[in-house]
Amino acid sequence: MAATSESRPAASPVPLVDLRDVRPGYLDPLLKEEAAEWIQSLDWDFEPAAGLVQRFVTMHALTGYALPSSSGMQAAGYAYFVADEGKGLIGGLFVSEPYRTPENENTLLKAVLDAMWRMHGLRRIEAQLMLLDAPLERDVPYPHAFTPHAREFLEAPLAQIVTLPPRNPSIVIAPWSDHRRADAARLISTAYAGHIDSQINDQYRSPGGARRFLMNIVEYPGCGNFFTPASFVALAGGGGQGLAGMSLASIVSPGVGHITQACVAPAYRGTGLGYELLRRSMVSLAAHGCHKVSLTVTSSNTNAAKLYRRMGFVPRREFAAYVWEQS
Ligand SMILES: CC(C)(COP(=O)(O)OP(=O)(O)OC[C@H]1O[C@@H](n2cnc3c(N)ncnc32)[C@H](O)[C@@H]1OP(=O)(O)O)[C@@H](O)C(=O)NCCC(=O)NCCS
Repeated sequence: MAATSESRPAASPVPLVDLRDVRPGYLDPLLKEEAAEWIQSLDWDFEPAAGLVQRFVTMHALTGYALPSSSGMQAAGYAYFVADEGKGLIGGLFVSEPYRTPENENTLLKAVLDAMWRMHGLRRIEAQLMLLDAPLERDVPYPHAFTPHAREFLEAPLAQIVTLPPRNPSIVIAPWSDHRRADAARLISTAYAGHIDSQINDQYRSPGGARRFLMNIVEYPGCGNFFTPASFVALAGGGGQGLAGMSLASIVSPGVGHITQACVAPAYRGTGLGYELLRRSMVSLAAHGCHKVSLTVTSSNTNAAKLYRRMGFVPRREFAAYVWEQS
């Protein structure tokens, strides 16, 4: 694993630095190490996200904190957040390997949580920290309020994908098109009503929130580059309006696809539609040169996890999704 040029762990807690005050380049060695770890752990190209972080650092607009290295010349860790419409989101937290202790990670975590709660009108915080150490066994600050949900990062090889037989031939499956966004948002809010994932991501709870979710996955690089040719919707049949299901995909690194969204309306479940939509996405990713596809699932979502396992997905990494909602 790559390490920064300085490799002495901090002996005692050091004061954090506000990310809005750091010089451009202060995070660069750390971001380089983080990018290497994203590739090694998840086959995920972190460079586009790192580029955004660097841009905001240069503009002195990244809200969060850095843990200085022993010399103080560069960052040994950082965490940042964004806040919008009453919700705070921890966008990233990473500590360089020689400095990676639960104490250092928790110091950063506590600093961003405290900073967010100081903001006027905040009512909820969410965080999915893919590279946090020992995600499900560790202590975190404010454990009674900042609660973890176990999630898994799964992956499947695509070499044999053509051997998966088609199912549910009667329903019309169409390519994704941007004019479907409003229908897709309505489908998400219906498909996730009362679902554990709408406790983890409150954007799933309403068509308006789901539209923002879709805007993020289609237009921004956080979940990879949206890949239209492997994204499909199933049209509601029998003269019904709207969509019965969808499977959306992105490219996260050369040759690696990612399913960013898979859902089926309750009335259409259990007929093989979820399977068929995923199969179409996977076949298309393979046809466009991907050898592997990944996705994330909440561990307690057993219906979905069973379907994924049957389609060849295996666990690669566990992580936690944290939620803190003010009562
Ligand atoms: C997960 C989900 C996409 C699966 O879609 P689906 O169309 O029901 O899936 P399929 O029918 O292809 O496969 C589900 C399996 O469960 C069985 N099943 C039976 N009744 C079912 C029911 N009421 N609901 C779901 N599955 C049922 C199916 O028969 C099938 O098994 P089989 O292949 O052995 O026949 C869908 O349940 C859903 O949208 N859930 C809510 C959103 C969600 O969890 N998305 C995934 C997030 S990671």
